[in-house]
Amino acid sequence: MADKLNVVSIYGSLRKASLNAALARALQKLAPEGMVITPAPSWAGFRIYNADVQESSGAPADVTALAEAIRKADGVIICTPEYNYGMPGGLKNALDWVSRVKDQPFKDKPLAIQSASPGPLGGARVQYQLR
Ligand SMILES: Cc1cc2nc3c(=O)[nH]c(=O)nc-3n(C[C@H](O)[C@H](O)[C@H](O)COP(=O)(O)O)c2cc1C
Repeated sequence: MADKLNVVSIYGSLRKASLNAALARALQKLAPEGMVITPAPSWAGFRIYNADVQESSGAPADVTALAEAIRKADGVIICTPEYNYGMPGGLKNALDWVSRVKDQPFKDKPLAIQSASPGPLGGARVQYQLR
């Protein structure tokens, strides 16, 4: 039997009671037969992206860890709130870092987007931006 599909989840809010982190956690139990969904390494400690830092010392270890987890995964699910019509800054910074590493982790990677919001549009605009 083939190995299970390995999907990693990334969430966009660091709040303890985050709806989106709860959604990401719930996915672990909701995964269909033949799929495992686990949280990707956290981007919480990422420094602000700076090309000079990357050129002089390469991507930091925490960036490399997230990039490697995405590279190895069969797919990615991002669960994020919408902040001011777009992505939370921390998530955007994380994606900016990962977008600049070699052997591009997102190349040809299937990716799903979910957003939880008490707002009437449910985060439609952040989903559009993420796409
Ligand atoms: C800085 C900030 C900006 C927000 N902007 C939006 C917005 O543009 N659209 C929206 O639907 N909700 C917005 N919200 C409300 C969030 O959707 C809501 O706080 C949500 O619960 C945050 O996600 P979390 O529960 O995963 O932390 C904003 C919240 C914050 C803190």
